[in-house]
Amino acid sequence: MNFIAYAMFLGIENYMSLKRDPGAHIQTHNADSSDMGKFMTPTLRELKYTAPYMHNGMLKTLEEVVAFYNQGGGEDRNKDPLLKPLNLTEAEQNDLIAFLLALSGEPLTTAEYVWTDEFPTEYEVIEDWRNVRN
Ligand code: HEM
Repeated sequence: MNFIAYAMFLGIENYMSLKRDPGAHIQTHNADSSDMGKFMTPTLRELKYTAPYMHNGMLKTLEEVVAFYNQGGGEDRNKDPLLKPLNLTEAEQNDLIAFLLALSGEPLTTAEYVWTDEFPTEYEVIEDWRNVRN
């Protein structure tokens, strides 16, 4: 529902028939649709914790991501020509997965990262803050 409202207000043509996320097209509206399905290259940091991958979560694991790139990065008429089959061996694919995993740190969920102190209370509460000028 939000997606439909978003597409409607951003002026996407024929938005009720969209079968895919328009990506950059939602903002740039190129008349030849050359921006359809284009997405920003995301950070690869902390990938270990951010599955599933790609804008629509279509790849569940990093193994799937590497296999996807290895076979050429899918089919799309706007696909970047840089994306070609890589012909990586099994060992090379595993090395690439190990590299991607190395871009994540330890999770920050252990006790040492949890704030246990009182929150600062020295701020005075501003009654009727909507009408009080700074
Ligand atoms: C073997 C080489 C590559 C590897 C291992 C790789 C890895 C990845 C991974 C893990 C993601 C998902 C990130 C996430 O969802 O958080 C991703 C997404 C993406 N990568 Fe790559 N990448 C490679 C090559 C490339 C190249 C050559 C390009 C540009 C031509 C590119 C552009 C993108 C873009 C635009 C996305 C976002 C796609 C989307 O949101 O659907 N990648 N890549």
